[in-house]
Amino acid sequence: MKTQVAIIGAGPSGLLLGQLLSQQGIDNVIIENRSAEYVLSRIRAGVLEAGTVELLREAGAGARMDREGHPHGGFAFSFDGRLERIDVHALTGKNVMVYGQTEVTRDLMDARTAAGSTTYYEAQDVQPHDFYSDKPRITFVHEGQENTLECAYIAGCDGYHGVARKSVPADAIKTLERVYPFGWLGVLSQTPPVTDELIYANHERGFALCSMRNPTLSRYYVQCTTDDKVENWSDQRFWDELRTRLPADVAADLVTGPTIEKSIAPLRSFVAEPMTFGRLFLVGDAAHIVPPTGAKGLNLAVSDVAVLYQILRGVLLDGRTELVARYSEVCLRRIWKAERFSWWMTSLLHKFSEDPFSQRMQLAELDYYTSSVAGRTTIAENYIGLPIESID
Ligand code: APR
Ligand code: PHB
Repeated sequence: MKTQVAIIGAGPSGLLLGQLLSQQGIDNVIIENRSAEYVLSRIRAGVLEAGTVELLREAGAGARMDREGHPHGGFAFSFDGRLERIDVHALTGKNVMVYGQTEVTRDLMDARTAAGSTTYYEAQDVQPHDFYSDKPRITFVHEGQENTLECAYIAGCDGYHGVARKSVPADAIKTLERVYPFGWLGVLSQTPPVTDELIYANHERGFALCSMRNPTLSRYYVQCTTDDKVENWSDQRFWDELRTRLPADVAADLVTGPTIEKSIAPLRSFVAEPMTFGRLFLVGDAAHIVPPTGAKGLNLAVSDVAVLYQILRGVLLDGRTELVARYSEVCLRRIWKAERFSWWMTSLLHKFSEDPFSQRMQLAELDYYTSSVAGRTTIAENYIGLPIESID
């Protein structure tokens, strides 16, 4: 079998790239090693940058998001018993959209089905080959049958644990990493969110985050140790800990109830350089990871897709093969800035040690940034999403 662009992975990166290409009449095939149901069962982040919202609309996958998503014009920091709002809309003229990644994925899957594009789910032994030649291919097993997919380009949209990055020769790639000494314990609960907007809390017992999916579904997190286990956290313990880390008047409004899901995630920063290897591109989590504190993971994957889509359009529709060389450099400029913001938010809000000097520095930084227009502006413009370079 043959296609123009072979895409490994049906997460948001692979599905969005496929949808944009299909709309331009560029043939593409997605190969995913899990089932569609499994992909849709993963609970991930829920804050979309303004640019992400625009690209989903452009891909023809924004209608339900526009109906059911919730535009937010700001969020708050809580520290030292205070609650300080960042008015993102006043400072940038734009809103973020609160709409779960699971829903984004479902909408993209539906759009792909409607477009009639091919996806192989539950593929095994997926392996890219010959991407330094002009005849790359992917081999995989589907329903017991061995297949070879020939293509012009391969997009490795297969996440942090995927096969694409691992297939690159060791001396062609450099990885840079920071692992943080804590994790996030997250719960989903069928309760009304404690406030209309997100709250990021710095507390002497550790970080906490109040987020949401809709007016009856809340998503909350507390910082925990890296070796902690969900079994150690009864619902009661979770709610008590969360309440302790919030300002008293907010805590008083917290509605608790049985939790639907509870999980622990480690926090890391990771970047692979470069992101292009001959005719193989790494996209999204396959190339980089951010700690979730800045809500950048999905958005960064979408900005990689925006760049790769423009390049592949130029190459495959207009024969501009020289554009291939620009992908890595253009993406990495924006990625490192999002890595910086995510690292900074993480550093500002978490408990790293018992050292009182470091804690005072965090509080002084929060006090300074939230009380200065310049400080609030730099936070708002990063939170709403830095511009995506256009390829001309
Ligand atoms: N072969 C085929 N598919 C694979 C393979 C493989 N060897 N390995 C992984 N995959 C699939 C995974 O099952 C998953 O569906 O690739 C997909 C990767 O999707 P994500 O991990 O969601 O990554 P991505 O699409 O880049 O999404 C951006 O950023 O911070 C995060 O939460 C955010 O998941 C989101 C991500
Ligand atoms: C979430 O709703 O899951 C969420 C929101 C904001 C973040 C991280 C996660 O920074």
